[in-house]
Amino acid sequence: MDTVLQLHDISDGDVAAWHDVLAASVARDLPGEPTPTLDHVHGYLTTAGLDSHHLLWTARTGEEITAVARLRLFDGPGRNHLGQFAIDVHPDHRRRGVGSRLLETVARAARAERRRSLVVEASSDTPGVAFLEARGFTCVLSLSLLLLRVHDAGDVTEIVHAEHPGYRLTRWLGVVPNEMAETFATAKSAMGDMPTGDVDYGTTTWDIDRVRDMAEVVEKRGDTLLTVAALQNGTIAGFTELVIPVGDGTRAIQSDTAVVPDHRGNGLGLWVKAAMLDWLRAEWPAVEEIETDNAEDNEHMLAVNERLGFRPLRKTRQYQYEL
Ligand SMILES: CC(C)(COP(=O)(O)OP(=O)(O)OC[C@H]1O[C@@H](n2cnc3c(N)ncnc32)[C@H](O)[C@@H]1OP(=O)(O)O)[C@@H](O)C(=O)NCCC(=O)NCCS
Repeated sequence: MDTVLQLHDISDGDVAAWHDVLAASVARDLPGEPTPTLDHVHGYLTTAGLDSHHLLWTARTGEEITAVARLRLFDGPGRNHLGQFAIDVHPDHRRRGVGSRLLETVARAARAERRRSLVVEASSDTPGVAFLEARGFTCVLSLSLLLLRVHDAGDVTEIVHAEHPGYRLTRWLGVVPNEMAETFATAKSAMGDMPTGDVDYGTTTWDIDRVRDMAEVVEKRGDTLLTVAALQNGTIAGFTELVIPVGDGTRAIQSDTAVVPDHRGNGLGLWVKAAMLDWLRAEWPAVEEIETDNAEDNEHMLAVNERLGFRPLRKTRQYQYEL
């Protein structure tokens, strides 16, 4: 039977072994999808994420790592009831109970940390769905993953240069400039009404420190964070964020996009996203694709993404378990 070990200090060997399991797992379940790079796995294992800490385990047979598990525990008020995890079993070692053992380990640790809910994501049409359903998890949100092929997408110059009376575009790399930190924190709170199905996410309150901390976490992982915002008299009315992961950097990941409620209906969502695409093409020519996910009932965001040329890639599901 496999031995489950908790990792404390992460060595280069741990990163390499974790990477091997993830690479094999992605190749089996999501053929054609890019494999996470070693640098990416290093960042993932050494930086837990904003307002959280994480616990890591490997399962092994002899010296061979057969599976990996990571449990992220949110610490901030409003979300400290929540644990989010991922388990990957090497395809050569599946269907012999290793995933279930790691799940028991994760659930035990989450209970010990007084968590109420566990959340997890699985791609539709992969064994993750049957596994989670067999173990009593409930699907609480369906998401469409979309992909934009940067070089095939149309010219966005006209959208970027369209008049939006009273508004102007601005952009920055990494941490928000001081003079916009406060208005940016307010705009980030506009993400609060994004459709999230029945997921027990709790609440996130954004303030100046939190927006800065979030950007610093991205930087610490070695990733690059780009933000484009629409301003009206110095107030951010809408924004979009994009992360270029460390490593080969060919697939960028869309992060938050939001338009503040008072400014909705003015085409600002499309405007900031088009300006982001324009900026990316001009200064990061190595980026070939942008990946984004949309709750299936988030019609406005889907419409904006389709207009820009995003096309469906696959579907994923968020599952939840009440501890
Ligand atoms: C999902 C995953 C973790 C399962 O690991 P595993 O070690 O094969 O799981 P177990 O052997 O403990 O399976 C437990 C039960 O889940 C169900 N199950 C697991 N894989 C299944 C599959 N491919 N088809 C149907 N049912 C499956 C079965 O009910 C199984 O019990 P059984 O073997 O007695 O029939 C593994 O396939 C994997 O790493 N997938 C990629 C990553 C992922 O999707 N993770 C899940 C979300 S974190």
